[in-house]
Parts: sequence; C-alpha cells; structure tokens
Amino acid sequence: MALDLIIGAQWGDEGKGRITDLLAEQANIVARFSGGDNAGHSVTVGDQLFKLHLIPSGVIQPGTTCCLGSGMVINPGKLIEELDQLAGFGIDVSPQRIQLSSSAHLITPAHIFLDGARETQRGEDQIGTTKRGIGPAYTDKTARSGIRVEAMLDPISFEEKMRRHLTEAKDLLERVYASEAPPIDETIELYLEYAERLRPHISDVGALIARALSAGQSVLAEGAQGTLLDLDYGTYPYVTSSHPTTPGALLGLGVGPGYLQRIVGVTKAFQTRVGEGPFPTELDGHLADQLRGSGENPWDEFGTTTGRPRRVGWLDGVLLRYAQRVNGFTELAITKLDILSGLESIQFCKAYSARSQTFDNLPFGPADLSPYEPVFEELPGWKTDITAVKRWSQLPAEAQGYIEHIEAYCGLPARLISVGPERDQIIRRD
Ligand code: GDP
Ligand code: IMO
Ligand code: MG
Repeated sequence: MALDLIIGAQWGDEGKGRITDLLAEQANIVARFSGGDNAGHSVTVGDQLFKLHLIPSGVIQPGTTCCLGSGMVINPGKLIEELDQLAGFGIDVSPQRIQLSSSAHLITPAHIFLDGARETQRGEDQIGTTKRGIGPAYTDKTARSGIRVEAMLDPISFEEKMRRHLTEAKDLLERVYASEAPPIDETIELYLEYAERLRPHISDVGALIARALSAGQSVLAEGAQGTLLDLDYGTYPYVTSSHPTTPGALLGLGVGPGYLQRIVGVTKAFQTRVGEGPFPTELDGHLADQLRGSGENPWDEFGTTTGRPRRVGWLDGVLLRYAQRVNGFTELAITKLDILSGLESIQFCKAYSARSQTFDNLPFGPADLSPYEPVFEELPGWKTDITAVKRWSQLPAEAQGYIEHIEAYCGLPARLISVGPERDQIIRRD
C-alpha cells in the first residue's frame, strides 16, 4: 500500500526509464503523470533496447497495469505507434493493461505546427523544444479550450470539437505566424480512426489508482522530463509546459499525498541538458566529448526523442539540493557512474559565486542563473572499469568517496547506483 515516485532531479534524461523498469518489478501499477511524447525513456533488457515515449517504462515488467495520467498530453497517433511497437515485441498492450485517463489532453497536428511556428518566431531566443506540440497543447488546456481524451468517446461531438479547434488554429497559424496549417477534413478523419482504436483504453485513471492503493497495492509513478524543466520551478522560460515534480505527480494522477512512500530523485553522476537555457557547470572541448560519447553506444548523450547531442557538464550540487527542496526526495538514484571511470579527477559544484559572495542556495530560484559562477571542489577519480560491479564493497574507494560526498552534501542516501544500462548493472544499498 504505497505510492512511490520516480522524479528527474536535473534537466531530464537522468535514466528514469531504467530505474522505473527496476522498481516496477514490485509494482502493481506503473503510471506516467505529466508530459507527452517529448519524453524518451530507454530501457535495455539483454540485447533488446526499448524506447518509450508515452507508455510507462514499467510496461516491460509483466504483470503491471500501465496508466497514462490526467496530467499528460497525448498524441494519439504516437500512442498507437508505440502500442503496436510493443505488441511487436510480444508485450501485452491490451486495453485491460494500458489505461488512458479520460481527462488527459489531446495533441493535434495544429499544436505541432504551432510549436514550430512559435519557435521560429522566437528566433535567437528559442527554447529548443522537441516540436511535439507540447507547449501549445498545455496552452489550450489552461485556456480551457483544449480537447480532452474523453471527447473521443462520442464521435459526433468529437468531430465538432476537432473542427472548431482546427479552424481556430488555422486562422492563428495563417494570420499571426504566416505559416501553413494542417488540413482540416483529413485530420478529423484520422482522429476519428484514432478514437475508434483508443476508446477501449479510456478510463478514470485517478479512481483506478485510488482503488488500487486502498486495496493495499503498490503504485509506481514515473516522471518524465526533470525538475529543472518544471514550468514553475525550472529554468523558466527554458522549461517544458508541465510539472515533472512531486506536486505534479499528485496533480497528474489525481490522488492525495497520504499514500506517498519513496520519492526517488534520479540524477546522473554528472549533468546534461538538451535544448537552450542556462547551464552553469557546462563543459566543452575534449572532456565534454568524452562524457557525451561519440554516439556509437546507445547510452551516449544524444536525445532519445530528437537525436540532438546533449550538452554535458559537472554535477551541480546547488541545483540538486534545490531539486530536493522542491520534491522532498527520500533518496537518490545515481546513474551513469561508469561514464566517469578513467578521469584523473572529478569536479563537483558545491556553491555559486556572484558579486564576491558565495551562495549554496539560490536566492531567487534557478530561472536566472546568469549572475553566478560555479564554485567547484575537486575529488579524486578512479581508473578501473566499474561496469561489472554489483556490490558497494567492490567499487573503488574513490567512486565510493564521490557517492558519499553527494550523499553528505544533499543529506540523502543514494540507494540505487547504476553502472551501466542493463538490468543487472545496478548496486542496491538497502
Ligand atoms: P530518461 O529520459 O530519464 O529515462 O533517460 P534516457 O533514457 O533518455 O537517457 C538515459 C540513457 O542512459 C539511456 O540510454 C539509458 O539506457 C542509459 N543509462 C541509464 N543508466 C545508465 C548507466 O548507469 N550507465 C550507462 N552507461 N548508461 C545508462
Ligand atoms: P525525458 O522524459 C530532456 C526539453 C526540450 C526543451 C524543453 C522544452 O526523456 O527526460 P518541450 O518539447 O517539452 O516543449 O521542450 O524541454 N525536454 C527534455 N529534455 N529530456 C526530456 O524528457 C525532455 N522533454 C523536454 O529539449 O529544452
Ligand atoms: Mg530521456
């Protein structure tokens, strides 16, 4: 009888998918609560690599029910593609197993066109979005003109809603952005087909989760994106349009905090970011290339969704502690420790300096990080390959020292440490 959360502590891509896959073994329900197919979660099982965008990564563990919560925005075409891909792997994606919240919002081609047009209009100030229509779909939601999943239950009113939405968006795209718009009749026809296919999956996911929790079952909520991309608490305006944080999990599932147990903050052993926006500990040159990888390994730092090279840097303790404050983490999961192997030394950002003052907290949150310079402390690196390490005691003393340093800085235990993408490349410290 517990609700456990998996939350990205950085700018996304922390390895939430692989941690979800591990913890899902014990879960009855695994649920996504925010974002859409801007997310890309890679899970490696043997020689199979699964790339999930909308369906929770817990789907790979048999026996789980997988929910797409009300805080999400759903591109129905992409959802159907993902269902079909998983079915091709022999995974059960029956409507009994994959449940879609009736109050999640739909992404339409008009949202995708608007995402592109708005990015073009921003020029040099562009956010670097994934161009999946995320921002415009959430904009319509908050403007109370969005189309909810439940609309697909009634084809006649769904057609009317789609026509009104597409006509308004066409006007906006053509008049304000001098941009093309998606064809109205073809899009409606396509969405009516999508509705037919997805109808059996639609349910009241919040009620389902609440029933499961009160019946003593365990629910695992898988975050997408990361805390520093949160609309309110991230590096605004270089954020996504949802709340990938603990408060967002409750809102996006429709349950209260009473059942909360573990709140796992997932962080890489270093820092990455895709898209624009501040990044105080960013590296370039040879070291950056080494941490990013050349792209030949599936885990190298190139976006799962867009293939863009990720920006890389040293672990930022100030931002990690900030993420802890926003989310109330009970523990950390630290991923990609193996990538630091071979470095002479490791830098850890313990504070920021600005105007001859030192800060280990952010006086005004992370939106404007431009006044700050990172203050680093240097820790010794280790030379040996750690990808086969299964137990804490087998880690080199310097690697233990680095993890303990992060734990002491944050005042949190790192209960899971991952040293490779495979299921068994994990050190559990229960
Ligand atoms: P998510 O969006 O938070 O689920 O993370 P992504 O899946 O987008 O990116 C994390 C990448 O790192 C994936 O390719 C994972 O397979 C890979 N990965 C996760 N943990 C580890 C690890 O400990 N070591 C290595 N080398 N790769 C890892
Ligand atoms: P996962 O779940 C990394 C980033 C985009 C862009 C900003 C806004 O795999 O961790 P959006 O399309 O959401 O309007 O883009 O957010 N972004 C992510 N970066 N991982 C993600 O998801 C992301 N989802 C969005 O690159 O900077
Ligand atoms: Mg990702």
